[in-house]
Amino acid sequence: MTAAADVHPAPPTDNHAGRILVLDFGSQYTRLIARRVREAGVYSEIRSCDIGDDALAAFGPRGIVLSGGPESVTDGGGLPIPEAVFTAGVPVLGICYGMQAMAARFGGVVESSDAREFGMAELRARGHSDLLRGIEDRTGPGGEGLLDVWMSHGDRVTALPDGFRTIASSPNAPIAGIAHPARRLYGLQFHPEVTHTRQGTAILERFVNGICGCPPVRTPANIVAETVAAIRERVGEEGRVLLALSGGVDSSVAAALLHRAIGDRVTGIFVDNGLLRRGEGDQVMETLARGQGVRVRRIDAGSRFLAALRGIEDPERKRNAIGNLFIEIFEEEAERAGRASFLAQGTIYPDVIESARADTGKAAVIKSHHNVGGLPERMRLTLVEPLRELFKDEVRAVGVELGLPRALVFRHPFPGPGLAVRVLGEVREDRLERLRAADAIFLEELRRAGWYDRVAQAFAVFLPVRSVGVMGDQRRHEPVVVLRAVETGDFMTARAARLPWELLETVSTRIVNEVPGVSRVGVDVTSKPPATIEWE
Ligand code: XMP
Repeated sequence: MTAAADVHPAPPTDNHAGRILVLDFGSQYTRLIARRVREAGVYSEIRSCDIGDDALAAFGPRGIVLSGGPESVTDGGGLPIPEAVFTAGVPVLGICYGMQAMAARFGGVVESSDAREFGMAELRARGHSDLLRGIEDRTGPGGEGLLDVWMSHGDRVTALPDGFRTIASSPNAPIAGIAHPARRLYGLQFHPEVTHTRQGTAILERFVNGICGCPPVRTPANIVAETVAAIRERVGEEGRVLLALSGGVDSSVAAALLHRAIGDRVTGIFVDNGLLRRGEGDQVMETLARGQGVRVRRIDAGSRFLAALRGIEDPERKRNAIGNLFIEIFEEEAERAGRASFLAQGTIYPDVIESARADTGKAAVIKSHHNVGGLPERMRLTLVEPLRELFKDEVRAVGVELGLPRALVFRHPFPGPGLAVRVLGEVREDRLERLRAADAIFLEELRRAGWYDRVAQAFAVFLPVRSVGVMGDQRRHEPVVVLRAVETGDFMTARAARLPWELLETVSTRIVNEVPGVSRVGVDVTSKPPATIEWE
């Protein structure tokens, strides 16, 4: 290897060598399709089903997946598939509504059925199609492949379009899969993207790696190399970048990536609002400043935040007070840090999808949690979003690749307003201190029992109501702590985790014994909906 090659390593295998376009017709599972394609090592993006011809051509897909959706094509209705999808000359896979719309487009018949099919169904593969050949959960009596699949549909295809043949059947959908092999068009009535369809990953891999010919090149090392190159390109030789560090996974991974790309030209501004969990502020400094060598300015602003929160009980007013003060302090510090022309943000791909969907009105809007929103315009800074193309699991994989500690990379999400929304009512230091102590005990015991990684989020909540207790011969009349642990994939719905009773008992005993000023421990077993995950 030459010296020059040492300095400029060979460009990575192109992560975008094959790109798959996922067109969104409004299914709740669209995002899962894009994730599964990425898991097959192939870059994918979601776009609205009304994508223009130019945008489609500019994306340059090597294959297209049409999502499901709530619409119906019966009686000539439903969202149409753009014609450019079929003139692009690439393989197309329609899922659920996507299959029905494709069948209707080519002259097949789609009808509403009284026998709606929701849940698991046994699918029989037919005709040895290149999509399903050799993929099966078991073999039927006649040697045919059988698969357990997840169905969720009312309409179904009842007559094949010209040139198509049936590649799968289920008891309620005799035409549960279709293919036009010469044109490489495929349709599946069931959902291969959900985990209940056990061979779903194999089917999607067959489509993207096999039929579309996209190689599985996307690895964490490639993503790092590509992102570092993209940051250098955007920021240039001279550009300086500011980054708001929160202590969470996304901003930490963004910091490490930026540092690898431009070294000391990125400054992390870590506004410690005093609303973090125990030891968290120090951990940020330890990991990023000492561990990664990122230049970080830590501002201990706990007392300013407490002052801003004094007397406020309403959750939304708390959030506003915290958001406004954050912006004020960030601007002061940015000024102090010196001239910068870029502001980096830890936006990840699900945020991008959500705001796009909010713009097009295709799905319910999920609240925006970004506490640096609006800053780039105010400060006249150009945005850099190194994680914009990544799903959360990819952000984590990149974090591991960059050498960030697993305890940080696999940490549960933590809300921007921090413990302020977990101390109900007015936030005061004595309440925060008790909450931090109780929360630390809960998390320590969860980790010890091997439960931390089995739940999506776990934390303690401080209730400023007083309850009677007895300790030794002393009567106490003191506040209550509640434990909340939830299981969820998307945080939009959640179920209380069924933690072992012994574990809850250990935590409760330790909290009441070790945390002065807590008389009682409760457990929150409410689902979301109707409750939310946080208490405020
Ligand atoms: P909820 O309470 O809405 O929470 O069920 C869903 C997820 O969002 C987090 N959360 C927030 N994150 N700022 C944030 O950055 C906020 O104001 C906020 N409120 C809730 C919550 O922790 C959970 O992961």
